[in-house]
Amino acid sequence: MRLDRFLSESTELTRSLAKKALHRGEVEVDGDVIKNAAFKLGEEQDVRWMGAPLALVGVRYLMLNKPSGYECTTRPGRYPSVVELLDVTKRERLHIAGRLDVDTTGLVLITEDGQWSHRLTSPKRRCDKHYLVTLAQPLMEGAEDRLAAGLMLEKEDKPTLPARLERLPASDEDDVIQARLIIQEGRYHQIKRMFAALDNEVVALHRERIGDIVLDSALAPGEWRELSEAQIASI
Ligand code: URA
Repeated sequence: MRLDRFLSESTELTRSLAKKALHRGEVEVDGDVIKNAAFKLGEEQDVRWMGAPLALVGVRYLMLNKPSGYECTTRPGRYPSVVELLDVTKRERLHIAGRLDVDTTGLVLITEDGQWSHRLTSPKRRCDKHYLVTLAQPLMEGAEDRLAAGLMLEKEDKPTLPARLERLPASDEDDVIQARLIIQEGRYHQIKRMFAALDNEVVALHRERIGDIVLDSALAPGEWRELSEAQIASI
C-alpha cells in the first residue's frame, strides 16, 4: 500500500492532508523520515506519525449501551447521534444495524460490514430481538396469543410476524408493569404501535439482546465495546 493511503486509512487525515504531513517530515517508517507519498509499504513495517504508531483500521463490530436522548443516525439531527459516543477514527464509515427510537435505551450494534448488518435486520433472517417493555396499563388477557398470531398495525397491509410475550412479575417495592417482547423485524415504532393496538402504552423500552448477542451488563449507558469473535460469528 502507498504510504499516503496508509496514513489516510489509519488516521483522520484526508489523502491530501496525509501528503502534506509527509512533506513536512512528520512520518517515519522503521525509524526513517519518508517524505515520498508514493513510497510502497511492505508487510509489518513500523509507521509512525509524529511519533505515534499507526495501524490500519479493520472492519469494526461494536456494541453500545444507548442512552435515551440520542438518535440512531449517522447525520446530525435534532438530537446528538449515537456515533458521537464512540471515540474511534473514521466514524463516517460506520452504520447502525437496527435503529432504536430516541427515547429507547439498550443494545445498539454498529459496524461497517453491510452484509453482516443485513443478516441481522432482514425480517427474512428471523433474527430475534429481545426488548424489556414497561407499560402504562396491566396487559390484557390473551395478549400473548394476539402477539403470536400477528397484529395488523395502522396504515400497514401486512400483519406483524409472530412475536413472543413474557409477562414479568411486579417487584415488591413498586407496581411497575413489565414484559419481555421478542420480535424478528424492526418496523417504524413497531413495539409502541403493537402495544397501542392492544390498548396499552409503552412508557419505557430497552433492547436487551439481538440474536445471541446480549448487552454487556458492565457497559454503563453511553459506553461501548468491541464484539468478540464468537459474537460476530453468531450472526
Ligand atoms: N420498537 C419501537 O417502538 N421503538 C424502538 O426503538 C424499537 C422497537
